[in-house]
Amino acid sequence: MRLRAYGGALLIEAPAKLNLFLEVLGRREDGFHDLETLMLSVGLYDSLRLAAADGGEIRLRLEGCHVPLSAPLQVDDTNLVVRAARLLQTHTGSQQGVRIELTKRIPVEAGMGGGSSDAAATLVGLNRLWQLGLSSGELHALAAQLGSDVNFFLDSAPAALCHGRGEQIAMVPMAGPLPFVILKPKSGCPTGAIFRTLQLGGAMHGPDRLLSALAVGNWKGFRSECYNALQAPAEELNSDVGRALSLLNGNDVVTAGMTGSGSACFGLCRSVRQARMLANRLRQQFDGQVFSVTTSI
Ligand code: C5P
Repeated sequence: MRLRAYGGALLIEAPAKLNLFLEVLGRREDGFHDLETLMLSVGLYDSLRLAAADGGEIRLRLEGCHVPLSAPLQVDDTNLVVRAARLLQTHTGSQQGVRIELTKRIPVEAGMGGGSSDAAATLVGLNRLWQLGLSSGELHALAAQLGSDVNFFLDSAPAALCHGRGEQIAMVPMAGPLPFVILKPKSGCPTGAIFRTLQLGGAMHGPDRLLSALAVGNWKGFRSECYNALQAPAEELNSDVGRALSLLNGNDVVTAGMTGSGSACFGLCRSVRQARMLANRLRQQFDGQVFSVTTSI
């Protein structure tokens, strides 16, 4: 994430993520699943403006929304941004308040981690705005309470291999920026329902060859190494996912896959130019949002 102070407020750019690899290792007793997943931070950002407020007030306002929503985005206590701010108050006993303006650009129910990234930005931003002095370890413990993907965004890692529910993060080397086209169908995928549809017990996939390809920037190494165990249940529940993947696969990408629990799908391109041109072409054909992005922090 990018953070800067401006006129007494903090402005934060919160990036999206793509999962190039996601294997489900098993179901846990707490109802969650143990995962092994490779996440990349990509250059599509929500913006947050955090300004101090009196009396412990926490107010979230949607300043701009550039994504279609199937239901109004909640700005009450159920929103992950508000929950992150309240968690910090409870954890530290701080009486300080904040007014948060959020501009959404990362699609929702997409598997691109927008809500988690906004929550991570709130934790990091308020730690600074309220001068709480929490360590990275303390912020990570709070992030894990908020959601499985929040930890990934805390450290602004360009690429990380994640375990547990997704909250155990290990940064991995990446040779250079990777260009992608992202297709987000109009319909979304609710994460809980996708996990409930998942059939466990098939052959397990591993990320080793993909990690090697990422470290040296070998295009061919990505081919047939991207894998997502949630893709089959997502395609079963939402036919738009299969349509997005077919469109990408029919347009000469290095490899195509679904991110997280969907419904967004990505195509890895050979150059930024190819990604931009392909995105322009697919905007005429695809019934949903089309983005051209590169990996970033
Ligand atoms: O943590 P997050 O809010 O992203 O999870 C949403 C839902 O997805 C959970 O309530 C759970 O049903 C499912 N989930 C899971 N295993 C994970 C992550 C999420 O079963 N590792």
